[in-house]
Amino acid sequence: MFNENMRDDVKEILLSEEQIREIVEGLGKQISEEYKGKNLVLVSVLKGSVVFMADLMRAIDIPCSIDFMVVSSYGSGTESSGIVKIIKDLDMDLRGVDLLIVEDILDTGRTLASLIKILKMRNPNSVKICTFLDKPERRLADISADYVGACVPDEFVIGYGLDYDERYRNLPYVGILKPEVYSK
Ligand code: IMP
Ligand code: MG
Repeated sequence: MFNENMRDDVKEILLSEEQIREIVEGLGKQISEEYKGKNLVLVSVLKGSVVFMADLMRAIDIPCSIDFMVVSSYGSGTESSGIVKIIKDLDMDLRGVDLLIVEDILDTGRTLASLIKILKMRNPNSVKICTFLDKPERRLADISADYVGACVPDEFVIGYGLDYDERYRNLPYVGILKPEVYSK
C-alpha cells in the first residue's frame, strides 16, 4: 500500500534536488556548445521525461524547439517488447532537423531502439539521445545515450518524472522505491 506521505515510500535518496540541478546544468552547457549553429529540436517521450525536459530546455542557451510524442510498447507484464505504437506523433517535420531525444531513463532500451528507427526514416539531419538516468546493466537493445545525466543501479527508481503506477512523478528528487510498496 502507498503511504499518505510519498516520501515515506522512499527507501533511499539517490539524487538530491541540488545534485539534479548540477547534472542538468552540465548537460545544458554541453548541449549548448555542441549544437551551436544547428537546428536543435528536443523531443520528449511522455510522460516520464516532462520534468527533465522542462529543466533541461532552460539550461540550454541556444535557440531550440520542442515537441512531444506518446508511444506505447506492447509487451507482457513489465518487460517492453520493443514493438512501438505511436499514440501521439510529433507535430513537426523532421527533415533537416538535429533531433535530440530527451528521455527519463534508459532501461532495456527496447522502446527507444525501435522509436529511433522510425524517426530516422523521416530524414532528420542527426539523431542523438539525452537520458537523465541510465541503467546500463539492464540493456537488451544495442543502444546507448549520447548524453547521460547519471547511472543508477538496477533498482526501481521514482521521482523527478519517474513513476510507479503513475505516482511519485512530482517527487522533486530521485529515490529508490521501498520494495514493500510494490510487493503488497
Ligand atoms: P525500456 O528502456 O524500453 O525498457 O523502457 C524504458 C521505460 O521504462 C522508461 O522510459 C520508464 O518509463 C520505464 N522505467 C524503466 N525503469 C524504470 C524505473 O526504475 N522507474 C520508473 N520507470 C522505469
Ligand atoms: Mg518513459
